[in-house]
Amino acid sequence: MKLFADTADVEEIRKLNDLGIIDGVTTNPSLIAKEGRKFEEVVQEIAEIVDGPISAEVVSVKAEGMVAEGRELAKLHPNIVVKIPTILEGLKATRILANEGTPVNMTLCFSATQALLCAKAGAAYISPFVGRLDDIHTAGMGLIEEIVTIYSNYDFETEVLVASIRSPLHVLDAAILGADVATCPPKTIYQMMAHPLTDIGLAKFLADWESVPK
Ligand code: G3P
Repeated sequence: MKLFADTADVEEIRKLNDLGIIDGVTTNPSLIAKEGRKFEEVVQEIAEIVDGPISAEVVSVKAEGMVAEGRELAKLHPNIVVKIPTILEGLKATRILANEGTPVNMTLCFSATQALLCAKAGAAYISPFVGRLDDIHTAGMGLIEEIVTIYSNYDFETEVLVASIRSPLHVLDAAILGADVATCPPKTIYQMMAHPLTDIGLAKFLADWESVPK
C-alpha cells in the first residue's frame, strides 16, 4: 500500500519524509489556505521534498478552466497530479488531461457510481472521502469495498486513494480491502506507529540492561 501525507505543511512533510515511508502528498484548497503562502510556491516546495505524486487541486468548476489550470499545475513539477472534483465538468476535464498524459486525481468522491465514471474518464486516482461519510453515519469503508470490487471486476487502472482518513483503523481497513493508497494527516501516521506495549517493553529492556555487567 502506498502512504501519502495529506497536508501542505512543508515542515511536517519534511519530518515525515525523513521516516522513509512517504510515497506522495495530497493537498486541497483548504489545506493550502492553512499555510498562508502562495499556492504554486508551496506545491513546488513539497515536490522538491517528496519524490512521488503530489496532488494539487484546481478551483475552476467548468471543464475549460479546469483544463487550463491543470496544464499550468502540471508545469510546476513532473510529479504533479492534478486534483479535480468529481462532477460532470470534472469528467470532461479529466478525459482531456488524461489524453494529454497528465495524471488526474478525482476528489470529493462519495459514491461507487461516481468512482465508476471517474475510472472511465481516465482518472489516475480516485479519492473517496471515508471520514466525511462516517461523519454522517454512512460506512465510508463500505464505499472503499465497493470501489475496489468494481475496479477489480473490470481491470480499471485507476488507483483507489482513500482520503478523509480520521484514524489508523481507516488505514488498516483500507489495506485489508486492497486499496492502492491511503492519504493521511500527519497525526494519523504517528498514531499508526505508537503502541503503549512497545514503549513499556522498551523501557523494561533498557532498565534491565542497566544491571548487565559492563
Ligand atoms: O484529501 C482530502 C482530505 O484532506 C479531506 O479530509 O478531514 O477534510 O475530510 P477531511
